[in-house]
Amino acid sequence: MTTTLITGANKGLGLETARRLVAAGHTVYVGSRDAERGRRAAEQLGARTVLIDVTDDASVAAAARAVEADGGLDVLVNNAGVEGRAPGGGVLGAAEVTGEAMRHVFETNVFGTVRVTHAFLPLLQRSAAPVVVNVSSGLASLTRVSEAGTPAYAYPGVAYPASKAAVNMLTVQFAKAFPGMRINAVEPGYTATDLNAHAGTQTVEEGAEIIVRMAQTGPDGPTGGYFDAAGPLPW
Ligand SMILES: NC(=O)c1ccc[n+]([C@@H]2O[C@H](COP(=O)([O-])OP(=O)(O)OC[C@H]3O[C@@H](n4cnc5c(N)ncnc54)[C@H](OP(=O)(O)O)[C@@H]3O)[C@@H](O)[C@H]2O)c1
Repeated sequence: MTTTLITGANKGLGLETARRLVAAGHTVYVGSRDAERGRRAAEQLGARTVLIDVTDDASVAAAARAVEADGGLDVLVNNAGVEGRAPGGGVLGAAEVTGEAMRHVFETNVFGTVRVTHAFLPLLQRSAAPVVVNVSSGLASLTRVSEAGTPAYAYPGVAYPASKAAVNMLTVQFAKAFPGMRINAVEPGYTATDLNAHAGTQTVEEGAEIIVRMAQTGPDGPTGGYFDAAGPLPW
């Protein structure tokens, strides 16, 4: 039996990933920073729930203790993420972005990924087939963001692409350090969720596809890579 934790799984891509992995036979922990939202999502899916705020050391440590006490972990999906828009809803471009705005986005997307991975490493190292999926973005790709005429090039925000580029680097460095684990970054594609006020052009079913596939990768699957549903992406 494979046990899987998905952070930020009370809605959006995380919730859909949880649904699909429950259907595939995983024991799934719906990670949620709000107990009630987590409980409702888990109940709907027939999953477990664990309270986890990825920006809070004590919350992450308590979640790791709870999952360990229940038997351990095989698959970690670092999905919780924020885009970090301005109060009016606009994206903070290079003229507006501040150190504080960068810190807010990095706290969840980058430091949160490290905090959670670090706390769950001892559990993953005890698994026979440990897997980590880091939910990145197409906007993490320096190649794509520099290619004039593409949607990635046109995106003006600074903090979000920088944070996901950092997630890609974490993926490469952790994959080299832990060759016994399958650790990959994935780009779900532009998906209608609360993150983009449902402006995304894909459904969550389409967006979750690559997350679900990488969560199920076997010991001879890829590691240290960056993929969308169609295959490897340029860094
Ligand atoms: N949608 C897209 O087009 C798209 C494209 C590429 C990559 N992604 C990535 O996909 C992932 C999921 O995003 P989504 O589109 O599904 O957005 P979403 O519907 O807004 O879901 C984000 C999830 O992250 C959780 N979260 C935020 N901060 C957290 C924290 N500090 N601790 C724990 N959980 C936290 C949210 O919890 P609350 O409900 O408590 O806020 C929510 O469950 C993100 O990493 C995002 O960057 C999305």
